[in-house]
Amino acid sequence: MAMDLLQTFLCLILVLVCQSRTSFALVNPILPGWNPDPTILRVGSDYFIATSTFEYFPGHPIYHSTNLVDWELIGHALNRPAQLSLFGTPSDAGAWAPTLRYHNGTFYLMSTVRYVYTYELRQFPRSFFVTTKDIFSNDWSDPIYFDALGYDADLFWDTNGDVYNTWSGINNAIDKIYGIYQNKIDISTGNSLTLAELIFTGTLPDNSSARPEGPHIYLINSTYYLLIAEGGSGPEHRSTIQRGPTPSGPWENNPANPILFNGANLSLPVQYTGHADIVQAPDGAWWGVALGVRPQTVGDFNHIQLGRETFLFPVTFDTEGWPVFNHGLPLSTEIPGVLANKSHLSLFHDTFDSKTLQDSYYFLRTPYKPFHSLTARPSFLRLFANSYAPGDRDNPAMILRKQTSYEETFETVLDSFLPESNLTEAGMTVFYGDFAHNDIGVVGTGSEDGGGGRVVVTRTLRPAEQVGPWALTTTNSTVTTVTYTPLSTKSGPVKLVIVGNSTSYSLGFAEGSSDDPDTDSFGKITYTATFDSVFLSVMPVNDFFFKGASFGVYNTGNGRPSLSPADFRYWKQMPSD
Ligand SMILES: *[C@@H]1O[C@H](CO)[C@@H](O)[C@H](O)[C@H]1NC(C)=O
Ligand SMILES: *[C@@H]1O[C@H](CO)[C@@H](O)[C@H](O)[C@H]1NC(C)=O
Ligand SMILES: *[C@@H]1O[C@H](CO)[C@@H](O)[C@H](O)[C@H]1NC(C)=O
Ligand SMILES: *[C@@H]1O[C@H](CO)[C@@H](O)[C@H](O)[C@H]1NC(C)=O
Ligand SMILES: *[C@@H]1O[C@H](CO)[C@@H](O)[C@H](O)[C@H]1NC(C)=O
Ligand SMILES: *[C@@H]1O[C@H](CO)[C@@H](O)[C@H](O)[C@H]1NC(C)=O
Ligand SMILES: *[C@@H]1O[C@H](CO)[C@@H](O)[C@H](O)[C@H]1NC(C)=O
Ligand SMILES: *[C@@H]1O[C@H](CO)[C@@H](O)[C@H](O)[C@H]1NC(C)=O
Repeated sequence: MAMDLLQTFLCLILVLVCQSRTSFALVNPILPGWNPDPTILRVGSDYFIATSTFEYFPGHPIYHSTNLVDWELIGHALNRPAQLSLFGTPSDAGAWAPTLRYHNGTFYLMSTVRYVYTYELRQFPRSFFVTTKDIFSNDWSDPIYFDALGYDADLFWDTNGDVYNTWSGINNAIDKIYGIYQNKIDISTGNSLTLAELIFTGTLPDNSSARPEGPHIYLINSTYYLLIAEGGSGPEHRSTIQRGPTPSGPWENNPANPILFNGANLSLPVQYTGHADIVQAPDGAWWGVALGVRPQTVGDFNHIQLGRETFLFPVTFDTEGWPVFNHGLPLSTEIPGVLANKSHLSLFHDTFDSKTLQDSYYFLRTPYKPFHSLTARPSFLRLFANSYAPGDRDNPAMILRKQTSYEETFETVLDSFLPESNLTEAGMTVFYGDFAHNDIGVVGTGSEDGGGGRVVVTRTLRPAEQVGPWALTTTNSTVTTVTYTPLSTKSGPVKLVIVGNSTSYSLGFAEGSSDDPDTDSFGKITYTATFDSVFLSVMPVNDFFFKGASFGVYNTGNGRPSLSPADFRYWKQMPSD
């Protein structure tokens, strides 16, 4: 009590200090839900962040903020098939780590789109950039390709007009020793002006697990800095920085490296931190963004179904001129005294009253043709089935939106769905990728050529063998469990829910009392499956874990054309109770 009084007294005197110490905290992640490989840019009073999207379409979301706290999705850099044609692209290939820059009135977004994997060779594709004069227009150019084979491309404009492309590549296809490579390019064509030079091999022993990548070059007070990520994309992930007299080095190592690394203490609530980019505010202060995961640990299992999210932190410079990330402290979910509070938890409730889909929805791979409509039946999202189903390495009639908190519930009503055959199915999913998705929907019970009733179908997938934390799975096959639950109505609406909690998901449904959305009421929810969310946190052998979970709705003919549209009444993502 005495201490409380003393504290209150001191706070009355030092109102401002106490307020900033105790009342305000920057709440991380600033972009909850999978948003890996963030890159940040400021132009005037506007900040922009872009992140990776892999086999999702459209690619590379652009988030905008004027205060670094409130971020709004304003569009995607790769939003036309001419920029991103993901046809049959494997899970976790697709659009990788962007860099966002601005030069002389033009915005540049560097990207690497990996269309195929050749596991044996691990050869990389050509990176490219797209440009726009108006980043709010959502209208970016077609790709302008670099010559280099690699990923994590960066562009840097030197004061003399030289433009440097810097990327992560490998020494050869056999040893696969990663390094930071660079050459000068002609910015109007992307063509090389000089040969590639290996400018840095990182701070770790130079073998195939060191993985120096994610390079960014900065010129700060006449000194060039090279910021990179190292250690692979798991717990050893980190950021390190070098400086030198030219954009190509030679590099002086920061004795404080790594400047961002939480892997020394695996109990910290944020892990895998790295892949950073920094920006200066108009007031001269510096800020950084990096990726990190928030593992939900139970025993030996790390549940990381939300994937790698985007974190923000203050950057200061020490007396030697080296940047210090987050005051030298491990990255955390709250940074006291910085900016303003902003909760992770959000309610998303779309009643489908607009004519076009909001920007936060995604397709899996590039649609061959449209399969959705918001105008065919006003205030409903109508999906026209195609022959692909969730899990096919193609473009199912499915719309996805990122899960944004561990304890989040997804809910919709599938309205009057009348499956015309036993292959016709529509429902909802919690989806990681082709090998990891869990669905609840309504499917026909008749024959393949028509007629019959309908039941609820629940499908859960898990790896065939014991799975452990990060990358320890040795399985390359998946066990699918399918159950059917009767429905009492022939055509009535069915509410579908996926309840997420930190370490599990439950799938459930309830039948509606009436076909009229205004008077409809639903009974108690019947849960048909509960499963461990670690199954959305591991990758099959020869695959990667780069994304995170999304919620989705789909309509499929399971290998055949289908004539039954599926109408969804609303899309709600809300905190689980
Ligand atoms: C900010 O959050 C902290 C806890 O995270 C809370 O104690 C404080 O009251 C909040 N401040 C404001 C201004 O909302
Ligand atoms: C900047 O852009 C203008 C107009 O596009 C062009 O005329 C000028 O040469 C550019 N300057 C530099 C330094 O690239
Ligand atoms: C690379 O070196 C590190 C540190 O010596 C070691 O832990 C790791 O196993 C090595 N990786 C390979 C592929 O040799
Ligand atoms: C750059 O130099 C100015 C003037 O010496 C100094 O005030 C400032 O702190 C320096 N900035 C950085 C990031 O080192
Ligand atoms: C590791 O992190 C945990 C959780 O923040 C903390 O309790 C513990 O003291 C840390 N261990 C060390 C050695 O710093
Ligand atoms: C669907 O109907 C066909 C007959 O048209 C039948 O052979 C098949 O087993 C049925 N499939 C299911 C899952 O009921
Ligand atoms: C799993 O991988 C092993 C070795 O890579 C292979 O022999 C086996 O056939 C694979 N099994 C399946 C189901 O793909
Ligand atoms: C999460 O779900 C599991 C399995 O249903 C349950 O055992 C656990 O109590 C739930 N945790 C919370 C915080 O609701």
